Amino acid sequence: MAQILDGKKVAQEVRSLLKGRVARLADKGVVPGLSVTLVGEDAASKVYVASKDAAAKEVGMMASTHRLPADISEAELRAHLIAQNNDPSVHGILLQLPLPKHLPEDSLLNLIAADKDVDGFHPVSLGNVMLGRPGFKPCTPWGVQVLLHRAGISLKGKHVVIVGRSNIVGKPLANLLVQKAADADATVTVCHSGTRDLARFTREADVVVAAIGRAEFITGDMVREGAVVVDVGINRVEDASLPKGYRLCGDVHFASVEPKASFITPVPGGVGPMTIAMLLANTVWSAELKAGIDSKHDPFQ
Ligand SMILES: NC(=O)c1ccc[n+]([C@@H]2O[C@H](COP(=O)([O-])OP(=O)(O)OC[C@H]3O[C@@H](n4cnc5c(N)ncnc54)[C@H](OP(=O)(O)O)[C@@H]3O)[C@@H](O)[C@H]2O)c1
Repeated sequence: MAQILDGKKVAQEVRSLLKGRVARLADKGVVPGLSVTLVGEDAASKVYVASKDAAAKEVGMMASTHRLPADISEAELRAHLIAQNNDPSVHGILLQLPLPKHLPEDSLLNLIAADKDVDGFHPVSLGNVMLGRPGFKPCTPWGVQVLLHRAGISLKGKHVVIVGRSNIVGKPLANLLVQKAADADATVTVCHSGTRDLARFTREADVVVAAIGRAEFITGDMVREGAVVVDVGINRVEDASLPKGYRLCGDVHFASVEPKASFITPVPGGVGPMTIAMLLANTVWSAELKAGIDSKHDPFQ
């Protein structure tokens, strides 16, 4: 039976340590400010934004959520983001994705000031991740790394197979875990929809990370005995027997994988809470930099 990698618990630990850092900042008259922009009415995005807002306030940060109409023009949204860039009380800016189809995600993300890019999606942040230099780390990949490290799982010399090569999960995670560092040093393989015989790679892996967006795609026959399995996926699957009409599940078929794995993340309660905790960690670090506090940008420092 696998040990559960409890993201909810580790995220809570991160948040309580951040509270202390927020208090230190308060002594200097600084309150970390997080500005979240939500465009349109995407149901899942509304839930994520509400969770981010609540978590930021819980650690004593100032969180402001800007809800903008789905038909906002690109020029108006650009003006809004520039105003956030120029607001000294804002230390972190987050533009919730996905955006309505008429808005160009890439160029709008590029507009966010690199020194307020707490989501870690700006090319400057991603470049620093690739080079192993200090900078904002994309929250979900960083959350995966912290969760593994906190559980005492050494990645040194291990083969990590990541399924998914998105710019927000797979690619940055590969870059984080390949660095020569105590919480990395893995041999990393990145798979995607063009990979031939995917199971050949996942079965070889010491650590499998699923970031695919397909419900229960990784099944027991695709992982080896004793593998560590991290499920990044969040999928809504119709279930008429539930009041909501759907249930949440990951990209991993938990029932068949869990008996073979040594460690596994649940969905919900695994990577999801870590993502939000790391967003707060990036924002507190941003405020510390501006306040002249030398922090190592390590949530467990
Ligand atoms: N827990 C969190 O906080 C969090 C954060 C972000 C995302 N997520 C979830 O994580 C999942 C992935 O998100 P994402 O944004 O990375 O998704 P994405 O941008 O849609 O990328 C999915 C990746 O999976 C690959 N893929 C699709 N079908 C495949 C197949 N049959 N075999 C192998 N690879 C396949 C795709 O390959 P191609 O590149 O070839 O298309 C792509 O690289 C989603 O369920 C999302 O909701 C969770």
